[in-house]
This record gives sequence, structure tokens and C-alpha cells, in this order.
Amino acid sequence: MIILANHVYIITGVSSGLGAEMAKQLLREGNEVIGLSRTNNEDIGRQSAEGKFTFYPVDLVRIKQLTPVLQPIIANIDSGSLDSITLINNAASVTPLKEIQDCTDEEILNNVQLNIAAPMLLTSAFIRLTSNWHARRVVNISSGSAKYPAPSMSLYCSAKAALNMFSRSVGMEQGQEPNAVQLFAIDPGMVDTPMQRTARESDMALSAFFAAQKAEGNLVEPARVARQIIHFISSPVLKNGDVYQVSAME
Ligand SMILES: NC(=O)c1ccc[n+]([C@@H]2O[C@H](COP(=O)([O-])OP(=O)(O)OC[C@H]3O[C@@H](n4cnc5c(N)ncnc54)[C@H](OP(=O)(O)O)[C@@H]3O)[C@@H](O)[C@H]2O)c1
Repeated sequence: MIILANHVYIITGVSSGLGAEMAKQLLREGNEVIGLSRTNNEDIGRQSAEGKFTFYPVDLVRIKQLTPVLQPIIANIDSGSLDSITLINNAASVTPLKEIQDCTDEEILNNVQLNIAAPMLLTSAFIRLTSNWHARRVVNISSGSAKYPAPSMSLYCSAKAALNMFSRSVGMEQGQEPNAVQLFAIDPGMVDTPMQRTARESDMALSAFFAAQKAEGNLVEPARVARQIIHFISSPVLKNGDVYQVSAME
């Protein structure tokens, strides 16, 4: 009898771009994927008869709903037969792409809630709700924007910088004990996804830079980046709390 390993991945922002590609590849490898985003992507569930996909429609801006959403998801997982569980905080939005005085209060709050408050709340709830489980991981999808200030992108850059520091601090909290939650941030580099289209089609001055990246072939296919991330996060030599770059994973 073949006994399949039981690895569960909870992925936010599963409907498009990098999130969708990570979900498809994990399903093809026979894993269980639980996807969270506002819209479903029917393609993902059709990927494989081996893996199991469950979709939850969630607006991650509505941050007070996040712990109540995660609680029954975790409660429904049979931790006794589990080999590992991984939360991938991937959902994000690059908008609003405007100078800060031109952003409405609602745009500012939506960006901060989605890009940094949601990963913080989900990480906190995940660690608490799985406290007696083993082989737990949190992967925070960061960005080069965490390190490079950019006009009209102050909210996105700030949120990603905060996500890196959050990952480093919580990594220190967890330490290197055998049962610690392994937590790290990954900068995926420039990936050819709808987020890139939003940046190059915007009317901010930097849109020309993003258009040039596309025109010059500098964007990497999301399937390739997804493959690198999935392979990388299974590595036993990762240091808790570190921030890694996909470009260094070749
Ligand atoms: N593409 C790049 O070049 C690049 C570079 C550096 C870092 N990153 C990072 O990589 C990650 C994935 O980005 P991507 O390029 O794949 O972006 P994408 O194609 O725009 O996908 C974003 C995902 O986030 C979800 N999302 C957006 N707002 C949401 C909300 N309010 N509630 C729930 N889900 C929401 C979207 O789903 P719904 O619309 O269905 O909700 C979608 O599934 C992000 O963290 C991004 O910052 C990307």
C-alpha cells in the first residue's frame, strides 16, 4: 500500500499570479492546498486528482474576520495524520499608486490592512491555533520594494519593509528549537503577473520603468518562481526569521 505524505498549505492570494502557480504545483505533487482570496480560480481545482484543493472566499482587508476564518480551517485538519503545515502569506496589492497626499484614508487603510495587518494577524492566529503541532512553517512573500524607496509606492514599500522586520522578529521569538515554527520572508523578484501589469499601466512616473522591465524580458514566469519557492521552503538549512531572495536560489 502507498501511503502519501500529508502536507497542508494555506495560501492567501490563491486566485492569480504567484499564489495560483504555487497552488497548482503543490496540488500536482499531491499536497493539500487551502486557498484564500476574494475570487476563486476554477483552474486550480482541476490541476490534479492527487492533491486536494479547498477554496475559501475571503476579503483580507476585513481584518477582524481573519482569526474567525482561520479557526475552523485549522480545526478541520487532522493534526494526527499531518506531516507538515505551511501558511503562505502571499496576497498583496500594489495600489494605490499615488503620492501619499493624493490617497484617500480608505485607500491607505486598505493597503495597510491587506499588505501588513493581515499577514500579522494570520501568523499570530496560525501559531496559536497549531500550538501542539509539529513541522509548522510560515512563509511571508515580500518584495524588493521592502528595500528600495519609490515615489507613488510608499504604502506598498512600507508594508513590505514591515513584513521583513516582522518576519525577522517573530523568527527570533520562535528561535531554533526543534518544534519552533519556521518562519521566513521571500522576495520573489520581478514576476510576470497581474500586479506587474497594474504597475506598468498606472499613471505614476515609475510606470515607464515597469513597462521597460516587461519589454526587455526581465520579468520571470510565475510558474518558474513558484517552483523555486516551493523547492526552497522545504530546505532543512533555512535560518528562522531570515529574508531570502528568489534570485539567489538558482
Ligand atoms: N509580481 C511581482 O513582480 C512581484 C514582485 C515582488 C513581490 N511580489 C509579491 O508576490 C505576491 C504575489 O503577487 P502577484 O504578483 O502574484 O500578484 P497578483 O497576481 O496581483 O495576485 C494577488 C493575489 O492577492 C489576492 N488579493 C488581493 N487583494 C485581496 C483581498 N483584499 N483579499 C484577499 N485576497 C486579495 C488576489 O485575489 P483576489 O483579487 O481574487 O482577491 C490575488 O490572488 C505579493 O505578495 C506581491 O507583493 C510580486
